[in-house]
Amino acid sequence: MSRHQVIIDTDPGVDDAAAILLAMASPEIDLLGISVVAGNVGLEASLVNACKLAALAGYCNLPVLAGASRPLIREPVLGKYAHVGRFADDLVPPTDLVPQPDSAIRFIAERAREAARRGGGITLCAIGPLTNIALALRLHPEVAPGIRQIVMMGGAFAALGHRTPWSEYNIHADPHAADVVWRSGVPLTLLPLDVTFQALFTEADFSAFEARDGVCGRAMAELLRAYDRSDEKRFGRPGGPVHDAMAVAWLLRPELFHGREAAVGVTTCGPTAGHSWADFHGVTGQSPNAHVIDAVDEAGYRRLVTERIAGLGATREAPEGREIVA
Ligand code: RIB
Ligand code: CA
Repeated sequence: MSRHQVIIDTDPGVDDAAAILLAMASPEIDLLGISVVAGNVGLEASLVNACKLAALAGYCNLPVLAGASRPLIREPVLGKYAHVGRFADDLVPPTDLVPQPDSAIRFIAERAREAARRGGGITLCAIGPLTNIALALRLHPEVAPGIRQIVMMGGAFAALGHRTPWSEYNIHADPHAADVVWRSGVPLTLLPLDVTFQALFTEADFSAFEARDGVCGRAMAELLRAYDRSDEKRFGRPGGPVHDAMAVAWLLRPELFHGREAAVGVTTCGPTAGHSWADFHGVTGQSPNAHVIDAVDEAGYRRLVTERIAGLGATREAPEGREIVA
């Protein structure tokens, strides 16, 4: 099996935690490191949360590195769970793990250079504001050939925004960075709110995380219970989205998803800054620059996430009739 060489760029973040643990639970992924960006919470809390997750999953040698503490140009705007800050110690145990002293931007550039020298390419799995990746591409433009693809959670096209009616948070938080990344020419797969809103996790999923008594599954269930993401008024049914895990799930099981090629772009200034658009029908005359995912097998996605994370550090076999998701 050829493994994806992945750097996760993240602002952990409860749904980021699901993405990170899913990647750590999946042999298809060779996780090179975690680059951290301010977003859901400030950079310092994001770094602590990333280190806590790495320690919990036993990835004690995994490079965790600090990136941007603020957006390229606009004023910082944290996520709606900013008050969460660091994950509570009773949800995710404390750790002595600390970030590496190097810069995340330099780390991304170095890994991309190495990959290009090998004739390969890394995958950047971007699940926060795109500031780090924009800086890596602008400060080290020669590394683009070493980036095989960027798979990112972000944007809202057919779906309304949630942070504002016109924008999804990762793009809203740094629209200039999104503009740099989306114009870079690096192959891009986008998982917008259009598709992440289609998969809602409920208490049944939280119990599935805990089914094998693994520390990671238990922590994931507790984080999702503690920071309720359900919104029956918006979604018309129980449960809440776990946006970021979908970016990792696409790498693992692309057959669970449907997508279309489109030219995508973002408004960077003015009253609707952060608005993202997708031209699926060539009306702008712009060539497609992204593969935009617009549908998911919800049951298959939820099962992949819950069963893989339940198996991370599990102390009990899978319950009867629930084989491990290949
Ligand atoms: O809009 C959802 C995105 O914003 C997710 O990545 C979430 O973690 C926040 O960063
Ligand atoms: Ca995130």
